[in-house]
Amino acid sequence: MDSFELNKVAGAVLGALLLAMGTGFLAELIYKPKPAGDRGYALPVAEETAGGAAAEAPKEEPLPVRLASADAAKGQGAAKKCMACHSFEKGGPNKVGPDLWGVVGRHKGGHEGFGYSAAMKAKGGDWTYDDLDHFLKSPKGFVQGTIMAFAGVSSPQERADILAYLKTLSDSPVEFPKP
Ligand code: HEC
Repeated sequence: MDSFELNKVAGAVLGALLLAMGTGFLAELIYKPKPAGDRGYALPVAEETAGGAAAEAPKEEPLPVRLASADAAKGQGAAKKCMACHSFEKGGPNKVGPDLWGVVGRHKGGHEGFGYSAAMKAKGGDWTYDDLDHFLKSPKGFVQGTIMAFAGVSSPQERADILAYLKTLSDSPVEFPKP
């Protein structure tokens, strides 16, 4: 074995060593265990509270401010979704829900001849704009147990428009609260 051959052998050994190390390194790169991360899934509780706060973020103008810029004509358009269940004329018929002529200032559950839920009859007081705003936002939220099967009007300004329309449905309209 001359030195040339010895060099070849050494080279081969060195190459093999390098290869082995290299593969080891590569393998480690590829198979390096990742941190386990979170197992299962986080319960959405915390997120929901955060989401809830965020959902309320687009702040609602106070009702008197919204009413000041409310549009009864737009409200009449928006009230189309109520017409499946309500009439709006003076002396109009009760349908699925009571006639809404003169509802502002009327006793809650106070329309003659309509079979209100016990919840509505128990609510008590007259319908103010503020109460109507809350009821229309979430009927079941405002009167737990109401039989008004309606999800509610989520847009604050659309509710104000509807209230402006309801105001017109009276011989002696109730004034809006002052901003
Ligand atoms: C699916 C039918 C339905 C729809 C749609 C509906 N309502 Fe009603 N509404 C009812 C019923 C039924 C009641 C009676 C609730 C009770 O007795 O608990 C009622 C009650 C009311 C009352 C209380 C009346 C009173 O005399 O005390 C108001 C105000 C009212 N609705 C407004 C509206 C408006 C405004 C809309 C549209 C944005 C609307 N409702 C959409 C069925 C409906």
